[in-house]
Amino acid sequence: MADGERLIPPEFHTRLDRPVNRKLPELERNGRLKHVLFAEQLDRAFLDRLARTATRIRELSESKQPQLDLEELLRHKRAMLYFTQTSTRTFLSFVAACQLMGMAIAEIRDPSVSSEYKGESVMDSMRMFSSYFDVIIMRNVEPQLSEVCAYLMNDLDDFNQRSVPIVNGGSGADQHPTQAMLDIYTIQRTFEFEAPTDTPERNRFNDLRAKYPTLMRGLDQKSYAFVGDIGRGRTVRSLAVLLAHYSNVEMHFVAPPSPTLGLQPDLRLWLQSRGIQIYEHTNLASVIGDVDLIYMTRVQAEHNREGQPGPSAADLAACRLSPELVARMKDYAPILHPFPRNDEIPTTIDQDPRAMYFRQARNGIWVRAALLAHLFDVESQVETLHERWFRDRHDYNRAVL
Ligand code: NCD
Repeated sequence: MADGERLIPPEFHTRLDRPVNRKLPELERNGRLKHVLFAEQLDRAFLDRLARTATRIRELSESKQPQLDLEELLRHKRAMLYFTQTSTRTFLSFVAACQLMGMAIAEIRDPSVSSEYKGESVMDSMRMFSSYFDVIIMRNVEPQLSEVCAYLMNDLDDFNQRSVPIVNGGSGADQHPTQAMLDIYTIQRTFEFEAPTDTPERNRFNDLRAKYPTLMRGLDQKSYAFVGDIGRGRTVRSLAVLLAHYSNVEMHFVAPPSPTLGLQPDLRLWLQSRGIQIYEHTNLASVIGDVDLIYMTRVQAEHNREGQPGPSAADLAACRLSPELVARMKDYAPILHPFPRNDEIPTTIDQDPRAMYFRQARNGIWVRAALLAHLFDVESQVETLHERWFRDRHDYNRAVL
């Protein structure tokens, strides 16, 4: 029996088979997210609000007493981290985010040490978790499992039984909405074009405009390049969906010439239906100097099928960064990567000010803490705390990544 068949009970198939926009109303409650499964649930206003809360949380966490006050906000909540697919950053930054907000956590990372080993279904396990915890954050190789768990929770709700939010921390090769949230936050902060040395007379943005006269602050009017395993990279899928909310955006997809690694027809159609200009390439050198951001990804070799020939060494090499290529990038264009990396970004590039991937990963803590604040409806309390501690600060929005 295939893994999916074992995990997904047949009674959920009709709900799973619907187009994503038909599913969205069931995933919210009173204008707030109830479950977090798809990037399609997140609009621009939500992303801006999330970023604001994330920055507040980051600033509060910088000193002891404000941090201790923050921990009081969700001290009474508990999170279950059910991560049965490998994870470092998503898992650990969720742990850190829960700790920041004062939440207790428990984890299962290996189903062989839970009752699933004795034949318990994932559905029964989930129902148990929902009776012990207040949110379930999960990652699984089966793309539809978190969605099914959300439906299970909704059904429990309908019968007035205890039900908790489900957060998708990575669903197979399909989606990774919380990674896309932190990617957007990182891009927002980067495209403020601020520098700690800015003064009213001289600032980084004006310096950049002298060389790039059409440059604008923010995510609109930008050209984004996604590089590597476009077809199987869930972070690319979710981020492309979010970037489609911004105006005059152009997307370049750079992948080895391969039906599995290249842009998949469903995402191409979805982006085209939203009027996004799409360009597909097989060589990073052909776009590197023209784009405003590079989003690198590794080749997801664990998804390779036996007997299927992979891309040639030369085709793979054409999708890697090198110091020579970085030298051709625009001065302000950041390099992002969800990590882990393999050999697509040599470590010699890490010291370049455009290498944003370590800051990007750190942003995951603030953004995930902000998401927990949203799910438990304490965003306004974060705001009040911030106001109380930093009332005298003039520029609340300003922050160094
Ligand atoms: C990615 C993931 O697991 O989707 N990493 C992450 O969550 N930060 C990327 C990957 O596995 O290549």
